[in-house]
Amino acid sequence: MIYLFFLSCTEQSRIRDTYLEEEEITQNILLPWATESNISQDDQYVRFEMRAQRKVHKIPLNDEFDVGFEVEGYAYNDLTPSPVLIAKKGQTLKVDFFNDLDAPTTIHWHGIKSPESMDGVPYAHEPVGPEEFFNIEIPLEQEGTFWFHPHYDTARQVDMGLYGMLIVEDQEHPIAKYPKRFLLFDDWKPDQVSVDVEHSHLYEDGHWLVNQHHQPKIEVEEPTVFHVVNASNQGYLNMHWPNALWVGGEQGYWGTPAIFEHLLLAPGERAVLLDLGGEKDVVMQPYSNHGGTTWEEPFNLFSIEGDVFEQPSLPTIIEPPTPDPQSTDAVLVFQGNPYTNSWYINGAQFPDVEPIRWKYGHTGVLEVRNLSPTEHPFHLHGLVFEVLSVDGVPPEQRQIEDTVNVGIYQTVRLLITADNIGQWMAHCHILPHGDEGMMTIFEVYDEE
Ligand code: C2O
Ligand code: CU
Repeated sequence: MIYLFFLSCTEQSRIRDTYLEEEEITQNILLPWATESNISQDDQYVRFEMRAQRKVHKIPLNDEFDVGFEVEGYAYNDLTPSPVLIAKKGQTLKVDFFNDLDAPTTIHWHGIKSPESMDGVPYAHEPVGPEEFFNIEIPLEQEGTFWFHPHYDTARQVDMGLYGMLIVEDQEHPIAKYPKRFLLFDDWKPDQVSVDVEHSHLYEDGHWLVNQHHQPKIEVEEPTVFHVVNASNQGYLNMHWPNALWVGGEQGYWGTPAIFEHLLLAPGERAVLLDLGGEKDVVMQPYSNHGGTTWEEPFNLFSIEGDVFEQPSLPTIIEPPTPDPQSTDAVLVFQGNPYTNSWYINGAQFPDVEPIRWKYGHTGVLEVRNLSPTEHPFHLHGLVFEVLSVDGVPPEQRQIEDTVNVGIYQTVRLLITADNIGQWMAHCHILPHGDEGMMTIFEVYDEE
């Protein structure tokens, strides 16, 4: 109670009226694809210019767009979320990156098997200093809904607005022909730059924004594909989204579209939905990583307006999950204390956690056990994994991911092929947890 009161006081003192232009609103909710001026492409390359800049974010508090607060933060190409980068499988992504911030930064390509030197972690290359350029070049061999964000001073820089979506698609896939929408969700607060637990805004329901808009309306004219990212540092998104099919995960479209009740996305997770129209609200059922659905009232995240469309016939490929080999190559035990914000893997804190080391080409099982009283989204760089089971239960179909939520006292078993040489970060994507120790290295080596 005291805590909530404290928050609302701080908030009051910060809130001021901001009048956003109508134009600004419509421009923002449909995130622009990276525009002609900063893109060029051929079969081999897709090229973008990206600039990390300072930006004053105008955060609306209601759907009238006339009341809100301002947050001094950062943005890519002057927008949060960044313009969407779209590429074809097989192209090489080239980004001419310029750092116009007052601080060093990097870009990490979350979900992409990049070369280690492009992964954006400070031990793989020096961070890009203020006023410095960095040329990024990554062959795109996977399909999926990826996102990018800094991996230097991570919790703070992401929270200040540096993130965007990268879509890599096989354009022959039957789902690729539908119109696309891109939604990045984040929970904003007036004091955006404090990311410690004391300033957590997990339980404030007013500030979940969609592409930085509060409860926008999105019109659909035919079945429409929604690529969804939870870009929040620590908030869980638990959505009730009627009349839609779940058609893809983080690493591409699924064999069989799934019906779903609730869509739970932990920080860093993505999903692809095919919306089948109707007049409806997509609603958030507040969710805490300290124990699931909370007592709070559900609230509207955004609305969809359109006719109800007939379900198109989509290809259905039965892809059962790979059977568990019943052997385990490595175990990560997550422990910690939410009251002190101290987090451990196998009893130690990064960089003191013993790294996992697999030889290039090895396929094995990594088991992640959560013995802490909070949930943690486990994310692995540079590689992907198949979820073999959660508490012994295999998923309904083959599920390839790079981020998986591990519930309280849950055990997940992940099948990994070490097919990318390098030292890869493996960490909790609740960013303050990663910063406070819940991180290790998964090294894929060639020769000893
Ligand atoms: Cu999206 Cu290591 O992070
Ligand atoms: Cu965590």
